[in-house]
Amino acid sequence: MPELQRLQTSHAAAVLAFESANRAYFAASISDRGDDFFAQFTDRYDALLAEQAAGVCACYLLVAEDGSVLGRFNLVNIEDNTAELGYRVAQHVAGRGVATATVRELCRLAAARHGLRTLRAAAAHQNVASQKVLTKAGFVPVGPADPAHIGGKQGTWFQRDLVRSVSR
Ligand SMILES: CC(C)(COP(=O)(O)OP(=O)(O)OC[C@H]1O[C@@H](n2cnc3c(N)ncnc32)[C@H](O)[C@@H]1OP(=O)(O)O)[C@@H](O)C(=O)NCCC(=O)NCCS
Repeated sequence: MPELQRLQTSHAAAVLAFESANRAYFAASISDRGDDFFAQFTDRYDALLAEQAAGVCACYLLVAEDGSVLGRFNLVNIEDNTAELGYRVAQHVAGRGVATATVRELCRLAAARHGLRTLRAAAAHQNVASQKVLTKAGFVPVGPADPAHIGGKQGTWFQRDLVRSVSR
């Protein structure tokens, strides 16, 4: 059974393998990480762990029984009980409801473990899969997203109030 685990140092190799194997798949719908991300992976990874330790973000991995990473689900820019949600799921498990189920689980964790009251996520208009994930997990559209925020594309901010809908 895959398990949602908090990002830690020991996951580094599995995260790099996940990002490398799915790079082209992700780049078809969201901004590519860029060559520097892969060339400087260890430094970037350590910086992310430092941010997490400082409470600026909370990063989770969906880890398969063999230790491989099936998806990444991050709460970033945590401030005033609000965070921005980001996620990506491996191509080889796409379309099986992995993102929808895990976003729902992360909403519960965001409230119970991190004390968050509101989650926000920006999705490009053409990213139909991501919009479906968000709406099925109880998010509602709240307005246009700045294209600079989603790789120069037009899109929408979605939001979920965790306090009123925590049992969803
Ligand atoms: C978006 C993403 C996380 C979805 O992951 P997933 O595990 O395949 O999603 P789910 O299986 O939970 O599917 C959610 C819905 O999207 C639909 N869907 C999946 N891929 C789709 C596609 N390419 N086009 C249209 N709909 C699609 C599914 O059919 C499902 O809808 P349904 O329940 O009505 O059938 C994954 O495609 C991904 O990692 N994409 C690249 C990164 C990204 O876009 N992140 C989000 C940034 S806002």
